[in-house]
Amino acid sequence: MTGHRTALLSFVLFLSACGPSSQEREAMAAEQSALAAADTLALAEAGFDAAAFDSLTWAVTDSAVARGRVVFSYSCQKCHGSAGDGSGGFVTRGDTLRPPTFLSDDWRFRDDHAGLRRQIFVGTATGMPHWGLEGLKPRDIDAVAHFIRSGLRAEGP
Ligand code: HEC
Repeated sequence: MTGHRTALLSFVLFLSACGPSSQEREAMAAEQSALAAADTLALAEAGFDAAAFDSLTWAVTDSAVARGRVVFSYSCQKCHGSAGDGSGGFVTRGDTLRPPTFLSDDWRFRDDHAGLRRQIFVGTATGMPHWGLEGLKPRDIDAVAHFIRSGLRAEGP
């Protein structure tokens, strides 16, 4: 009996020594989620079609900005902050996201409306949602891009 127990115990010890440590398990989980994020990004990139924006028109840019203000308040503000300075303070996986500000003079999308729409549609693997996969329509993506460039940036912080 005791012999059996000892054998069982050493077998269990042997198994636990072979299995991944909690550190290894964490590293594996991090790797899995990074791979999943890269897959989703690739899906969003494949789904982006610049031509979907070609037929969009607004009576006046102001109506795009007005619509974009609404889209921003529902979908973007919690991370990007009401002024677009990155101060939304949204917490995900225990981290407070600090997205870059939209307000700097040399902001990379300052004069790049099409690039901005693409960035919003596609997102990133490191925290920015993939709005094209989340169901935000081209018209609303265009509107929020107008709002960021002609509303937020023009109004200042
Ligand atoms: C869950 C939080 C979150 C939400 C919601 C969110 N974003 Fe982001 N966004 C981020 C983060 C984090 C980054 C930085 C990502 C990176 O560097 O990989 C980012 C980056 C960006 C960038 C690139 C900025 C630059 O200077 O490179 C743009 C543009 C952007 N977001 C627009 C939007 C718009 C428009 C919305 C709403 C439709 C939105 N975001 C909603 C978290 C968010």
